[in-house]
Amino acid sequence: MIEQRVKSIYDQLSSFESNRRFKGAYPIHKKLVFEDLEINDIYYWLIKTITVKENCTILDAGCGVGYGSLLLSKALNASVLGISLSTTEINKATTFLAQKNTGANCRFLVQSFDDPFEQKFDLIVAIESLKHAPRVQETVQHLYQQLLLGGQLVIVEDLWNGDPITSQAQQLIDDWSLAKLYTKNDYQIQPIDQHSIRYIKLDPFIPKKNKWKIRAQYLLTNMMAKFQKKENNLHQIYRGGFILDQLYLAGKMSYQAIVISKTDNTQ
Ligand SMILES: C[S@@+](CC[C@H](N)C(=O)[O-])C[C@H]1O[C@@H](n2cnc3c(N)ncnc32)[C@H](O)[C@@H]1O
Repeated sequence: MIEQRVKSIYDQLSSFESNRRFKGAYPIHKKLVFEDLEINDIYYWLIKTITVKENCTILDAGCGVGYGSLLLSKALNASVLGISLSTTEINKATTFLAQKNTGANCRFLVQSFDDPFEQKFDLIVAIESLKHAPRVQETVQHLYQQLLLGGQLVIVEDLWNGDPITSQAQQLIDDWSLAKLYTKNDYQIQPIDQHSIRYIKLDPFIPKKNKWKIRAQYLLTNMMAKFQKKENNLHQIYRGGFILDQLYLAGKMSYQAIVISKTDNTQ
């Protein structure tokens, strides 16, 4: 049920965004500001921060239209599998890969990150995708099991600070059909002695947003959402985005990378 709704959200979003902005890939994750990087994108940050061996295998779990998968493949000379629930995203990713003709070693599949995989990976990245998992602890455990020994699972996510859920936060849960807003603790895996886990706070790299502008955007999308047709809930999806911005301003959310390294092969 959740998966059907997530598919619908990203089918709509990818169709709309790629028509509106530019032809080709769209990065729909947060825009960040890194002073020491020329390009301000979380996938570039990953490339600079995470050490992997040459020619490694990577799973981009929740790959959007494949923008980051292509970057990872080219920069790390890696073989990348990008998966998403959205058929529209995967079609766009496949077309973009063919059009760009970069020689990037990528494949794209419509598949859930909760499904079984035919191979294991040196690196698994999940950028702003695990918030959609119906049961995130099971998903993290499942992805961890797809790592080769010495492999790393890098999750970058908006994390709830653990306060009781406010009505505004509940609206975000409803708008994005989330099971709940997960906290840092929800991303733990067991047993704890066979891996190492590192948390990196990325909040300082989120550019300051104008609270009045976000409020106005929220009010506009909130009004439009009331008139939207049942089969088209783009306004509701964008309203969720503006609620998330407001939750950040209120200090309720934190943007973090969780890096889990597999140190033992018995799992
Ligand atoms: C916010 S987008 C992020 C896309 C990309 N990682 C990026 O940062 O540009 C979330 C992605 O997660 C995917 N997703 C959500 N639930 C999923 C699931 N169960 N299996 C695979 N992909 C999923 C969506 O289809 C979408 O591509």
